[in-house]
Amino acid sequence: MLKAVNKAIKDLKGSYAISVISPLFPKKIVVAKKDSPLVIGKGEGENFIASDIPAILNFTNTFYFLDEMEMAEIDANKVTFYNINLKQIDKPLKSIEWDAVASEKQGYADFMLKEIYEQPKAIRETIGSKFNSENDINLDIDLDFTKFNKIYIVACGTAMHAGLATKYSFEHFCKINTEVDVASEFRYRDPLVNDKTICIFISQSGETADTIAALKLAKEKGAKTIAIVNVIDSSITRVADYTLYTHAGPEIAVASTKAYTAQVTLLSILSAYIAEKLNIKEVADELKELKKDIAELPQKVEETLKVADQIKDFSQKVFDEKDIFFIGRGTDYTVSMEGSLKLKEISYIHSEGYQAGELKHGPIALIEDNVTVIGVATVPGIISKTVSNLEEVQTRGAKILLVTNDSIPESEYKNIKDNEKNTIVITPTTSSYLSPVLSVIPLQILAYNIAKAKSLDVDKPRNLAKSVTVE
Ligand code: AGP
Repeated sequence: MLKAVNKAIKDLKGSYAISVISPLFPKKIVVAKKDSPLVIGKGEGENFIASDIPAILNFTNTFYFLDEMEMAEIDANKVTFYNINLKQIDKPLKSIEWDAVASEKQGYADFMLKEIYEQPKAIRETIGSKFNSENDINLDIDLDFTKFNKIYIVACGTAMHAGLATKYSFEHFCKINTEVDVASEFRYRDPLVNDKTICIFISQSGETADTIAALKLAKEKGAKTIAIVNVIDSSITRVADYTLYTHAGPEIAVASTKAYTAQVTLLSILSAYIAEKLNIKEVADELKELKKDIAELPQKVEETLKVADQIKDFSQKVFDEKDIFFIGRGTDYTVSMEGSLKLKEISYIHSEGYQAGELKHGPIALIEDNVTVIGVATVPGIISKTVSNLEEVQTRGAKILLVTNDSIPESEYKNIKDNEKNTIVITPTTSSYLSPVLSVIPLQILAYNIAKAKSLDVDKPRNLAKSVTVE
């Protein structure tokens, strides 16, 4: 069977991860892979195959990883590895620190809810692994950052939103032009990337096909590549020049929550690290503040989770809607995009995330009596602008959920607060570069409660997979 599969895969084109069984050899499985993920979990008198670690964490935490064009022959007690020429090869057995309990619901109704509430821990552990006892950042990236004139952040879905949220931080603190792109676009054009570019790839699973392809393209073009990944030893980590792990633990729900806030935290730490290496005097004091704010995030996330009841009440009013709009400016806009994606994914309500200033250029035509508009307004200096956009939709009959923070005087949003149709949610205050970590939480809880109110399966929404291993 091994020989037959070997012969067959030589004829295959494209990417694959296959397992083959035969009634002639009922105790064996032969597996092979190219460009698609495949992990082998080692048990006691049993072995497992899956496309990623979390799927089989309940059974084992020791794994073998196949490289491209490799094969394995598996029975209950033994795994034997081969290269494409059927020469036997050795593979190290790796232990993954995640345990089975971490991938159970632990009394929560759903994985998504559990993961929302795990965010303080996920962020604490992500920070803890990157700061030393003197509060210095140590990321072990031995690059001379003065040699780079561009940063590209590339990812898909929520991971891309984490990139959008932190573009502001890279540009402000590192003074390097930073672009964000979705991997499926980046890989099929001719992006201006060369040896003066740092490309950052973000992925919870580390297995997203488009992100891996974009990473390979960036490497071919000479860029230095850094991966921000949650799943240990996943495919992306084996391609990137440097890997930084978020320590969010296994994320099982299809809708990403704790991975996103851990990604925004880690990317902010990376921006601070690069800025420190570049020794840019004009932001030195602000950097100290940023690091202090990063350290305070876990506690502030804990406090933000207290908005849950208020959001649950609001969800009861809007769960039957057909359309919901999210608006914001700056980093608040990027949270609007993420809030909108979360809602679409699990509640199947059509929604749009928009730059508040763009409303007048088209979308305001969709605002009519009783439409729901969610405004995120936490960035000092531009809050009054977003509030004014919210007043415009209020005039047209919209009902509003405003997410703001406790440093903003009520007078700034008095007209919104005074309308009894509206709801105001207040989060703790942090740096506007980090505020997505806090302001996204009410939006995650909103999407969750709306999906529950509609009796939908929040963990496994229709048509979606946790790891998108095909393009
Ligand atoms: C998030 O809620 C989505 N399920 C999806 O957008 C996801 O973020 C995207 O597929 C990227 O996945 P990755 O982080 O594993 O690469």
